[in-house]
Amino acid sequence: MSKYQLNCKKCGHVIANMKEWFESSQKCPVCGSNHALVSYSASPEGVKQLIDANLAQSVFDYFDFLPLDDKQNIVTSGEGVIPVENWTFLEEYAKTYHQIECKVHVYRNDLNPGTGTFKDVAASVAASVLKENRITHFAIASTGNIATAFSYYLAKAGISLAVFIPQDALLANEAEISSYGQKVFRVKGDYAYAKKLAAEYAKKHNILISGGNIDPMRVEAKKTMVFEWIRQMDEFPTVYVQALSGGTGPIAIDKALDDIKSLNLVNHYPRYIMVQPSACNPMTLGWENAKANGFPEGWLNDYPIIDAPQTKVPTLATGNPATFPIIAELVKKSGGEMITFDESKMIDVARLTAYEKNVRIGPASSIALGGFFESLKQGIIKNGDVVLVNIGEGVRRAPEFMEEMIYTTEHVSSSEECNPHHIEQYKEELYDALNR
Ligand SMILES: Cc1ncc(COP(=O)(O)O)c(C=O)c1O
Ligand SMILES: [Zn+2]
Repeated sequence: MSKYQLNCKKCGHVIANMKEWFESSQKCPVCGSNHALVSYSASPEGVKQLIDANLAQSVFDYFDFLPLDDKQNIVTSGEGVIPVENWTFLEEYAKTYHQIECKVHVYRNDLNPGTGTFKDVAASVAASVLKENRITHFAIASTGNIATAFSYYLAKAGISLAVFIPQDALLANEAEISSYGQKVFRVKGDYAYAKKLAAEYAKKHNILISGGNIDPMRVEAKKTMVFEWIRQMDEFPTVYVQALSGGTGPIAIDKALDDIKSLNLVNHYPRYIMVQPSACNPMTLGWENAKANGFPEGWLNDYPIIDAPQTKVPTLATGNPATFPIIAELVKKSGGEMITFDESKMIDVARLTAYEKNVRIGPASSIALGGFFESLKQGIIKNGDVVLVNIGEGVRRAPEFMEEMIYTTEHVSSSEECNPHHIEQYKEELYDALNR
């Protein structure tokens, strides 16, 4: 009996393995759908055993539940066993400013060793699966982070990657991709256009292309974060907060919880709070409109498209969110929300986090954490909630954002002008800025 198989989500046709999936161009050979779910012959009981084994080496601790046959093909840097941390300053904030008693944890994806983002886990699994199936060339369109992670891990596997990034992608991302020897095509257009060119290129050269947010390699990798939360946390989160671009998070969380339902380890799905930046929030706009109208028939296909979005967070610049029908449905089912965070306040969140925790978060993480503050304001977080915020990236992603962290500098020309400061003096200033 084989370890795993893929099941077409649309028609149920069984695809034997990743080899067959790649040979049919990552589509169901019967109905043509590109959405397939992986199932395993091992009993879900095995997941519990792996969690209890408490290995903490990498995402491949969960090898038995990844679509990979031979451990020899593993490509890893030790990603995916990052800590869940209890950040009490956020709990105190909720209590002081909103009279809400909740627990607040963060998932420190900035500590992933590959590229310091939550994309490392997907990229390490993808690199391993591609290596196992002797794929030598691959293509991907990306707003930045996923491509950087794929560049790193595919280079480690000796696989040539063509990366299509939008015109406004961060220079730091481009530099990192290029430094690993992977090919960058910076297209004259937005992310939607980058996707179009990547698809045309892949077709012309008969090269496999990343299947995006529903790609089974990515979903299977990301589902392991649920296993890590169970391993590390006393209580499973009731609320999950993530910055939203395409939306792999809820897809992967739902998949993990569905897979292990029979274990009765977790008896609820978290409410998904998905946060978009104010200059690129088509999913939130679609959601708000549907909500205001009582979620009318067809609402899942009714969302705006933002051409060439001018957001300060290029990693979240999905202006044409084709995954809206999938994500919005999951959010609704979970009792969650799609919200917007004002980009002009991102830096206040990042400065406060650096001050309180000595952790410098990147722009996309500031949107996620900003979403926590915004959720409190909107009354979305309740007494007793156990909140988990996905800190998706560190500041290394965005040197320009790091420069914006500066707020204590005085320009001086003599030592007479230099007086000692007391670190506490900035505290009030930082909270005032956030609350303004
Ligand atoms: C740090 C970070 N957070 C959130 C996102 C959004 O992820 P998704 O596309 O799964 O919505 C990204 C996407 O690149 C990201 O890099
Ligand atoms: Zn099918």
